[in-house]
Amino acid sequence: MKNIIAPSVLAADFGNLQRDIEMLEKSQAEWVHIDVMDGVFVPNISFGMPVLKAIHQHTTKFLDVHLMIVDPDRYIADFAKLGAQMLTVHYEACNHLHRSLQAIKAHGMQAGVAINPHTNVSLLEDCLQDIDMVCVMSVNPGFGGQHFIENTYRKVTKLKDMIIQQGASTKIEIDGGVTNKNAKKLIEAGADVLVAGSFVFNAENPTQTISDLVQIINS
Ligand code: DX5
Ligand code: ZN
Repeated sequence: MKNIIAPSVLAADFGNLQRDIEMLEKSQAEWVHIDVMDGVFVPNISFGMPVLKAIHQHTTKFLDVHLMIVDPDRYIADFAKLGAQMLTVHYEACNHLHRSLQAIKAHGMQAGVAINPHTNVSLLEDCLQDIDMVCVMSVNPGFGGQHFIENTYRKVTKLKDMIIQQGASTKIEIDGGVTNKNAKKLIEAGADVLVAGSFVFNAENPTQTISDLVQIINS
């Protein structure tokens, strides 16, 4: 299977959002990662539905929506209407994770679960079969441009073993601090999708940076 780069729009220039989304549209990125933050689950507020609607109008890429919000069940139907294809909720934000996963799928989306750096992957053991993707946070969620947490490799290896052991088809996504320095090692540990925000958008040539990352993770 081809490994995927999902540039995070959080690092885009919001004053030139259409330009940046059009850049992604023409790039080799297969997914676009959208970070929704509520200022409660994480200490930052990013953007919400109207911005996602605008993004959707300028791209045909797979929309990977990462909800960093409390009680995400309230908005599952809204995000389905807005064109989300993967909807990821946080393990730490769901009282009834299995029910949330079922609701996401009932709305025609793939269901993702994100885990914070302190959350043990073994906590997902009993619902792994129901999870289309686990997003392993490699920084504390809330901000772009943070340093990658090295313990992530260990978590990915452990999670990959669990997935193989259960014969599940769950993908592993890594979110936070991804660069050309750690991309290959993450794929080797078992990751399938790498989110990259500041590394892409702060580059002199974001399109080229995306191609380079795609090349690194698929060679
Ligand atoms: C952090 C977000 C990430 C963020 C990644 O809470 O979930 O998706 O945009 O940004 P970088 O790649 O700059 O760490
Ligand atoms: Zn994210």
